[in-house]
Formats: sequence, structure tokens, C-alpha cells
Amino acid sequence: MKKLIDKLYKTANLKDEELAFLIDNIDDETLVYLHKKARQKADEIYGKTVYIRGLIEFTNYCKNNCYYCGIRAANKCANRYRLSKEEILECCENGYNLGFHTFVLQGGEDAYFSDDKLCDIVSSIKQKYPDCAITLSVGEREKSSYKRLFDCGADRYLLRHETATKEHYQKLHPENIQFENRFECLNNLKEIGYQTGCGFMVGSPCQTTDNLVNDLRFIKNFQPEMVGIGPFIPHKDTPFSNEKSGSVRLTLILLSIIRLLVPTVLLPSTTALSTADENGYQKGILAGANVIMPNLSPESAREKYTLYNGKKTSGSQDAGELEHLKHITEEIGYKIVFSRGDNIAFQK
Ligand code: 5AD
Repeated sequence: MKKLIDKLYKTANLKDEELAFLIDNIDDETLVYLHKKARQKADEIYGKTVYIRGLIEFTNYCKNNCYYCGIRAANKCANRYRLSKEEILECCENGYNLGFHTFVLQGGEDAYFSDDKLCDIVSSIKQKYPDCAITLSVGEREKSSYKRLFDCGADRYLLRHETATKEHYQKLHPENIQFENRFECLNNLKEIGYQTGCGFMVGSPCQTTDNLVNDLRFIKNFQPEMVGIGPFIPHKDTPFSNEKSGSVRLTLILLSIIRLLVPTVLLPSTTALSTADENGYQKGILAGANVIMPNLSPESAREKYTLYNGKKTSGSQDAGELEHLKHITEEIGYKIVFSRGDNIAFQK
């Protein structure tokens, strides 16, 4: 088993059967070794640092009905909100004063935010904070829309692929959300020049080891600049309310494998991981993650952006919380870095 990990470390690749074997059979002792090699790889490229991004959840309106997601259109219990341009700029100002140099604008697929409106917001942020990077995470849009937003100054785009297996995709989404379209969007984003992020939930309903191997193979081939993964956590007002949560252990295994398959990837230790395990953030970093995305949204919005139950609403709006994050990062021998934190291939 250790030989497989050494091979993965050296060649940044494994055969499908080898990946499946590792996922299904790794014991706790070998897992320590896997995390060590993944961390070593991240240290070689980015040093003992964690990049920080300010997350702004600016709308929880969504036209889609993904079976797993708490802000799905059909959830009548969701308390809907949209932040105004002024409120978004205020979040950025708070973040900038705390030292942030990346703002992640995330929201449901909300038609209210037309290209004109979003471009105006992106340009305004860029004008005020030209030294900052903007990451968008607003779902599937036309290529022309992605292009306009890029031309207005958006640098990065997160669009999780959710699962690289068509049959599995169809079990997680209603018919109108199409597998092929998701991958076309991801290709368009890359072609336009965004630093592009994909990703998936660990332990989503019906997920098999083969599905995970397909996800890893897709990630290896696509060579994303960023990958977001976290455990699936059920939400009470969704069709998946009675499904089991994804495992933290498996999430950590996959974080390490992704680090070794795509050594330069920017890999967050996600909110879902921290929600599932009280030391999730630190465990994620020690497994090879190197990004943290604290919440800059106003308090009132945070409670409403519930993708899953128990989602952490603490953020870093207040300096106290940020001090805590710095502290628990330093506790494990790492340091939060406040630069833009571009993927190494995009660093000037
Ligand atoms: N549990 C964990 N992650 C979820 N997401 C949506 N719903 C859940 C859930 N119930 C993830 C999806 C989506 C991202 C914004 O949040 O992967 O792409």
C-alpha cells in the first residue's frame, strides 16, 4: 500500500484500479502516511501557508431543484434574500480592512443577477480594489456571459461538477439539469482563461467507489486550478433529508489523493468539513488542503444560506474570529497568507 502512495507521490498518477484499491482498503496507519506525503507535496509548492478568501453569499434565490441542496427552488421553507450592490461592496470593504485580497461571490442561479447587474458589481469591486482577485460561483451560464464577466475583471470561477458519472448525476439532479452542460460550462470557463474550480460532495447518495474514481480521473484530466470537496450533509427540507452524511475520513483520503494527482491545485478545507468535524479545518490542512474561505456575508444572510443542516455560520467579519483562525492554523505549524493567492501557474 505504501508503494502505491510513493508511486502517486512520484508520478502524480495511478491507474483506476489502484485508486479504487487505495480508497477502499487504506488502513489507519497507511492513511497517516498518505496525509504526510500529500502535505509534503503541498509544502514543496506553496510552502507552509494557507491562502484565505472572503466568501460573500449574495443570493439564495435559485431556479434549480438539485435534490441535495437546501436552497433548491421548491424549498418553500427557505427564507430568501438578495444582497444589494451596496451591501456586497460593504462586505468587500470589511474584508479588505481585515486584509483579504480575494472575494468569492457565491449564489444560487438567480435570474435577477443578469449579466448587466453582475458585470456592474464585478467592475465596481475591481475599481475599488484593483489589487484583489474576484472569484465567481453562480452556476451554469452561457459562454458569452462567462466571457463578459471575465472581461469585467472576474479572475476565477467555481463550478463543482458534482459527479463525473452520468447515471449518478441524474440521481442527484432533476432532468432539466444536464450532465453534458455542466462539463461544457467547465470547458468554456477554462477556455476563456478563468482559474477554474470543479469538485464534488463526498458520500452523496448512491455514490460508489467507481464514481469517485471517475471524479478523480476527470480532475486529473481537466487539470483545474482549484478543487472543492466536502462531505454531503443532508438538509431536512430536501428529497435527501433521510440520507446518510458523507464520511470525514473518506473526505480526508480524497483531499490527499487530489493533492497528489494535481500537485499545484488550490484546495480548500471546506465549511462542510468543519461542520461535520469540529477539528475539520485543521484535519483538512494536514491532509493537503491549503485554502480557507471564511464567511464575509452579513450575519442576517448567513443563517439563510443553508445548503445543509448545521452549516457553520461563524465567519471572520469580526477580527476575533479571524484571530481564532490564525491561531488554529499556527497551532499545526502553518501560516495564513493574505495575498491574492493565485494558482502557481497564474502567478506573475
Ligand atoms: N451537503 C454538502 N454540500 C452541499 N452542497 C450543496 N448541498 C450540499 C449538501 N447538502 C455543495 C454542492 C454545491 C456547493 C455550493 O455546495 O456541491 O456545488
